Amino acid sequence: RMTTPIPSPPSIPFLGNATSIDKEVPVRSYILLARQYGEIYQLNLAGYTQIVVSSYELLNEVSNQERFYKKITPALMEVRNATGDALFTAHAPGEENWYIAHRILMPAFSATNVRNMFDDMYDITSQLVLKWERFGPGHVIDPAADFTRLTLDAITFCSMSYRLNSFYSDEPHPFATAMTDFLAESGRRSNQPGFLTAIKRSALNKYEQDQKVMLDLVDEILNDRREHPIEKNDLLNIMLFGKDKETGKGLPDDNIKRNLVVFLIAGHETTSGTLTFIIYYLLKNPDAMRKLREEIDEKIGDRPMTVNEVNKLPYLLAVIRETMRLAPTVTARGTSPINDTTVLNGKYAIPKDTSILISIAMAQRDPKVWGEDAGEFRPERMLDGKFEALPPNAWQPFGFGMRACIGRAFAWQEMQLVLVAILQRFDLVMHDPSYSLELKSSLTVKPKDFKIHAIARTGKP
Ligand code: HEM
Repeated sequence: RMTTPIPSPPSIPFLGNATSIDKEVPVRSYILLARQYGEIYQLNLAGYTQIVVSSYELLNEVSNQERFYKKITPALMEVRNATGDALFTAHAPGEENWYIAHRILMPAFSATNVRNMFDDMYDITSQLVLKWERFGPGHVIDPAADFTRLTLDAITFCSMSYRLNSFYSDEPHPFATAMTDFLAESGRRSNQPGFLTAIKRSALNKYEQDQKVMLDLVDEILNDRREHPIEKNDLLNIMLFGKDKETGKGLPDDNIKRNLVVFLIAGHETTSGTLTFIIYYLLKNPDAMRKLREEIDEKIGDRPMTVNEVNKLPYLLAVIRETMRLAPTVTARGTSPINDTTVLNGKYAIPKDTSILISIAMAQRDPKVWGEDAGEFRPERMLDGKFEALPPNAWQPFGFGMRACIGRAFAWQEMQLVLVAILQRFDLVMHDPSYSLELKSSLTVKPKDFKIHAIARTGKP
């Protein structure tokens, strides 16, 4: 049977379709292009062929490790400048250190280990609550900034036993600023011809400086541990002393540093963005806020949540799941066919190793799975066994297969603990009631210019 050419927008000589990609928020362009060209289209980005798929059917077809592997996209190739062959940006198959690190480090974030981190997570959460209480109802809160303090401090304290104390500073932690700028510049570099990257000297200097800031923090944490060794099965000790059972090998020093950068980035950026989206959707949907509040008041009241209550509040889980469906902070992932292949029952041919970008943000709104109200925030669609009964791969905000998120249990526990602590103590309101969602993108997305107030609750349960 003959295959059909993959739809493609008209292109400009030399630049291809590069100019049709929004420089600040690329996901915007991918959504617009999908509306125009459909569930599969092909871009020529300054000589690089990029297929973009956006439907559930295609997401499900390419979520198959026998036919497809994780492609390191041009943007991730740039991120490799800092993270190299660490998890997340390693080529696998291809780079042995991915397999060794994966086997050594997976246990660091097992369900049991994450439960053991509960008290340390609570410690950091209390600092956020205290800050909001002290500043009072008049203070304009930038939730993305405070959630960044929280999640960055939490991953560092819980997995490296190292305190960053971000809540004691008016400025964001230098790591967070350097990382945001580094990720944004990595994205820009991947969408522009190489000669532009080479001639923009000041951008280049800044890019190198930002990497140095990140690696300096990692050096500081490593030196501190070497000077003050502790006996604890935390991520840092596992990285330093762990041996892979299959090969007997440990992680080389350079790879340890790069993996630490990955954990500091991946361990906080996506969680803080997701928490910010959750607050946004709850404030836009007072009914959901009320139901969640009632569940927390009834099941927990005003005492601290305990580790045994994690995963036991159904409406809370539904709210988080529904937010991650509508607003996955990792909006897309890259994949490629292992061999020449076709998709959609032989309709389109895709040569092996072609870069395919899967728009998770679009696929998770496919009306074929989610109905005509797919764009609406409705936690009820995740309740009463409906989440468990979804078709395979319909909900995929944590990625897929062997390259799926290693920190899922960590993030899941952290988000629950933080939301319960906040909603127990505060009534939240939007600073600007007419605010409508806009995105800020630095490889991952979060709400832009979203501000709130936190008013201590009077009608405590
Ligand atoms: C990978 C999402 C939290 C560490 C991924 C991937 C996604 C993701 C989509 C796969 C990316 C791809 O296919 O290219 C999220 C979300 C989070 C979250 C939405 C929070 C809500 C965390 C946390 C940690 C973490 C807390 C660390 C403790 C990692 C690592 C990888 C990864 C190391 C790379 C795995 C590999 O390539 O082997 N995450 N993540 N993530 N995540 Fe997360």
